[in-house]
Amino acid sequence: MKRRVGILISGRGSNMTALIDHAAQPDYPAEIALVVANRADAAGLSAAAQRGIATQVIASRDFGANRAAHEAALDAALRAAGCEFLCLAGYMRLLTPWLVQRWSGRMINIHPSLLPVFPGLDTHQRALAAGVKIHGCTVHLVTDGMDAGPILAQAAVPVLPHDNESTLAARVLVQEHLLYPAALAALITGMSVPAPAESGLVNPCISG
Ligand code: GAR
Repeated sequence: MKRRVGILISGRGSNMTALIDHAAQPDYPAEIALVVANRADAAGLSAAAQRGIATQVIASRDFGANRAAHEAALDAALRAAGCEFLCLAGYMRLLTPWLVQRWSGRMINIHPSLLPVFPGLDTHQRALAAGVKIHGCTVHLVTDGMDAGPILAQAAVPVLPHDNESTLAARVLVQEHLLYPAALAALITGMSVPAPAESGLVNPCISG
């Protein structure tokens, strides 16, 4: 039976869309039960609705500085939808220890770098400035701390001589869209999954 998964977004939602599209396949171990955005203008909301997925806006700005109340509302919505796992997909807010603890072991995030290098923002720009030759993305369990937590899966891409921020971001994003559904499936089934055939320089590594 498919496990019910919630997704939190703040913006474009391309990773959310990749998760939804994979979950639509009969043999995928999850279904997307709910997408919640913390911003009413998150573009991903319409992409989810077009795919027939339930959406909610729980706007952080409505709660002001009361992060606990915002997260209590998020948590209540996810539980009402029967979500057992939670994916952060471009959700650009730090979570409090309360929510992290409540979803411990069942909440994952995707980040556009090979963690532990380049946590935070502007990862592609920083990778170019550092002169790294390999860059990529990471799916990790969410724990306290920004872009921290045990690494579940990574995919790497080469940094090419004439790359700029947008060409590098686009190359990484292709891998994000393959890695995130693979890592979610691996977490749910407790199994490793084959590396996506379209993978780049280094095969995705999934463990745990
Ligand atoms: C993605 O590149 C994701 O890895 C990144 O935000 C982007 C969201 O795009 N997440 C982080 O930086 C988290 N620290 P999307 O909305 O199209 O999925």
